[in-house]
Amino acid sequence: MRTIEWVDGHVDVIDQTALPHLRRVALYTVSEVVDAIQRLVVRGAPALGALGALGVALAAARSAERDYDPHAVQADAHRIAGARPTAANLSWAVQRVLPAVSQGPAAVLDAAQVLVEADVRACATLSRLGAALLRSYLGDRPMVLHTHCNAGALACVEWGTALGVVRALHADSLIRMVVVGETRPLLQGSRITAVELAWLGVPHQVVVDAAGPGLIASGLVDAVIVGADRIAANYDVVNKVGTYPLALAAARAGIPFVVAAPTATLDPDTPTGVAVTIEYRDPDEVLLVGGWRMAPSESAALNPAFDVTPAELVTAIVTESRVIEPSRAAEPTGVARAVTIPSMRMAGAF
Ligand code: MRU
Repeated sequence: MRTIEWVDGHVDVIDQTALPHLRRVALYTVSEVVDAIQRLVVRGAPALGALGALGVALAAARSAERDYDPHAVQADAHRIAGARPTAANLSWAVQRVLPAVSQGPAAVLDAAQVLVEADVRACATLSRLGAALLRSYLGDRPMVLHTHCNAGALACVEWGTALGVVRALHADSLIRMVVVGETRPLLQGSRITAVELAWLGVPHQVVVDAAGPGLIASGLVDAVIVGADRIAANYDVVNKVGTYPLALAAARAGIPFVVAAPTATLDPDTPTGVAVTIEYRDPDEVLLVGGWRMAPSESAALNPAFDVTPAELVTAIVTESRVIEPSRAAEPTGVARAVTIPSMRMAGAF
């Protein structure tokens, strides 16, 4: 099943806000694409890349219905690239299709489709590599893995990253349990990852995010596996808020902390995680639960959607072409960086 595809002049996507109910929506305009990205109808770094590329194809197709204007299409492309700031794949994919804009709508669609197919292949390959890596770390025995947010097929085009690794291990009967952080405030863990694992028949248990580090410390978890939204040149990993505490707990417990992501998520132009723009979302996502306000009306909320895990806490980054083990290569700047990165980002928010 494809989560995103080009169908008869529009983009057809699974509406991730409707899950666990499976509903598809059709996007016809650039404004609808931008809205779908900002409301997380489509979310997850690789899926954002695919929609970004097809969104430019949509802009070109709509422009060609009037009098094809490459400058207007380029302006639309920049709007799409800026719809969410943190995932590298979105602006990366838009940049990759931009050169085709001067050649007309068919060329833009071809370029976008190449990226969509490449995502499917990359995720399938890195899933196999990641499974082999975890087997090499943990041995051929059923594993308990902790994951966070959703890095499954629904976050990509057809195959997941972190959940792709889980899927490959499950095919070899090597998953004992997947511990799924519910992922407050928008619950991508319970609403999306748990749904995917149920579809696949993988044993899993949803936990509140705060339980994760303690479960790791208790020895219940063999390894943590997550996806990423952006990986800086020094291999600091930006992922869904709540990833960093899991990495700290994994380092303290001496278990592997593995990140699975396609090469498109690697951003060699951003030197460290500190330089990454973290998206701050609507405070109501924190303050309201099921439409009901949980905190007093006097209370404000701070809602960073992502955090930064310093490279020295990362055991391995698995892409479709290589395994990087940053903690082996990193200089031991250690504890100070682990403490200062999140506090610097928080300070910037006030
Ligand atoms: O805000 P979201 O749901 O788009 O955040 C997504 C994540 O943090 C994922 O872990 C990441 O994009 C990897 S998806 C393969």
